[in-house]
Amino acid sequence: MRTSTLATLALGAAGAASAAVVKRASGVTPVSVKGNAFFAGDDRFYIRGVDYQPGGSSDVADPIADEDGCKRDIVEFTKLGINAVRVYTVDNTANHDACMNALADAGIYLVLDVNTPKYSLNRADPNPSYNAVYLQSIFATIDAFHGYDNTLAFFSGNEVVNDPESSAAAPYVKAVTRDIRSYIRNRGYRQIPVGYSAADVSENRLEMAEYMNCGSDDERSDFFAFNDYSWCDPSSFQQSGWDQKVKNFTGYGLPIFLSEYGCNHATRDFDEVLSLYSTDMSPVYSGGLVYEYSQEPSKYGLVEINGDSVSELTDFTTLQSQFAKATDPQGDGGYNSTGGASGCPAYSSPNWLVMNDTLPAIPDGAKKYMTQGAGTGPGLDGAGSQNAGGASTGTATAGSGTASQTGSSSSSSSTSSGTNAAVSIKVPEWSFAPLVCGAVVVMSTLFGATLL
Ligand SMILES: *[C@@H]1O[C@H](CO)[C@@H](O)[C@H](O)[C@H]1NC(C)=O
Ligand SMILES: *[C@@H]1O[C@H](CO)[C@@H](O)[C@H](O)[C@H]1NC(C)=O
Ligand SMILES: *[C@@H]1O[C@H](CO)[C@@H](O)[C@H](O)[C@H]1NC(C)=O
Repeated sequence: MRTSTLATLALGAAGAASAAVVKRASGVTPVSVKGNAFFAGDDRFYIRGVDYQPGGSSDVADPIADEDGCKRDIVEFTKLGINAVRVYTVDNTANHDACMNALADAGIYLVLDVNTPKYSLNRADPNPSYNAVYLQSIFATIDAFHGYDNTLAFFSGNEVVNDPESSAAAPYVKAVTRDIRSYIRNRGYRQIPVGYSAADVSENRLEMAEYMNCGSDDERSDFFAFNDYSWCDPSSFQQSGWDQKVKNFTGYGLPIFLSEYGCNHATRDFDEVLSLYSTDMSPVYSGGLVYEYSQEPSKYGLVEINGDSVSELTDFTTLQSQFAKATDPQGDGGYNSTGGASGCPAYSSPNWLVMNDTLPAIPDGAKKYMTQGAGTGPGLDGAGSQNAGGASTGTATAGSGTASQTGSSSSSSSTSSGTNAAVSIKVPEWSFAPLVCGAVVVMSTLFGATLL
């Protein structure tokens, strides 16, 4: 959806104890990128998932640190037939072993947003917010999750660019993506795919995708994802315009998936599920994540959570039967094994306001994390990073994000540090929910322009 509500929340989650990631033999094969697709071993991997953040943006809590809630919900995930969940906010000081291992036992991967409401870029004034305090927090989140085989991917940002004007912030999104990839390599971690979750902004959707995949290898993403609410039932592959998106993204060199989908303007038939996992889309798309698991004020939920119990809503049953019908395409689904870089889009006012292809340099104060590690993160209770000082000065040279070492850290021990969770949970625009109690709520002013 093209709008996003960036909520900065003041909240008080108790910092959980720091603990080493307990890695153990899990039933899941780590996912990697080949050409424009994901693979688990030799098998093409399609994301069949839901967005998972009980409490939404108004009650930010780490669902992966909540063992009981996690186990309660895994029962439903299994019934639904999914293989992935996306979580928008975690506490990088908490212990995630129990939930991550239970998810792995159920064959479920995690797609994780590394930002939290208080530790994230400020799209309106990105330069000061791109600082060492911010990077320390997101690197601490990487430390907390890299050791699990079922960590599928990291989102470096969510809907930071949410209209033509905010495209000026794109170099910062790309710099953060570069820094996370560089951190993973410098620390010697498994090369967990890193990419951005874009808003579906029709004016610059393609430019954003090309931009995140252009330039030197250290500056390019591992995949591209976007939120898409344009298929509103009753609809079809053609009527929704999804056929045009497949056409326009044909030849794009990275995996693409939908980081949120599931228009709720009318009764949801979830017919888009059948298209998404068919050969109409599989040469270009690698599945997606339905928004969202729990019922929140925006009314996208599949289930209603009430303490220890969960009741399935009509949408749950509908989606469950569509997933059951939508088997994966045969073989490799016609993916493009070549992959490769895009050209950088040219400056084009008013829709694409990136002046040139140069990225901001990593803030000086953050360089040491590459060699020393990030240490303990701020968790969800930290003071926040947006105005913390220590911002980037100067521009980077191509190749600056190439790992200068390949850390010695073994995948079996990492610090689960941090404290802070800054997440940008996207709330659909047509949600009139009283969002958040907290600090800042920025609503997109472009509401409706691209809604179908
Ligand atoms: C596809 O690309 C064409 C040409 O650039 C553009 O006019 C059209 O809006 C795009 N359609 C979609 C759905 O992105
Ligand atoms: C495969 O990807 C490469 C690199 O992006 C591109 O040049 C080529 O046209 C693609 N082939 C197809 C059939 O899409
Ligand atoms: C690129 O654009 C930025 C502003 O976005 C500017 O600060 C920088 O000097 C430009 N770099 C070059 C090489 O033109």
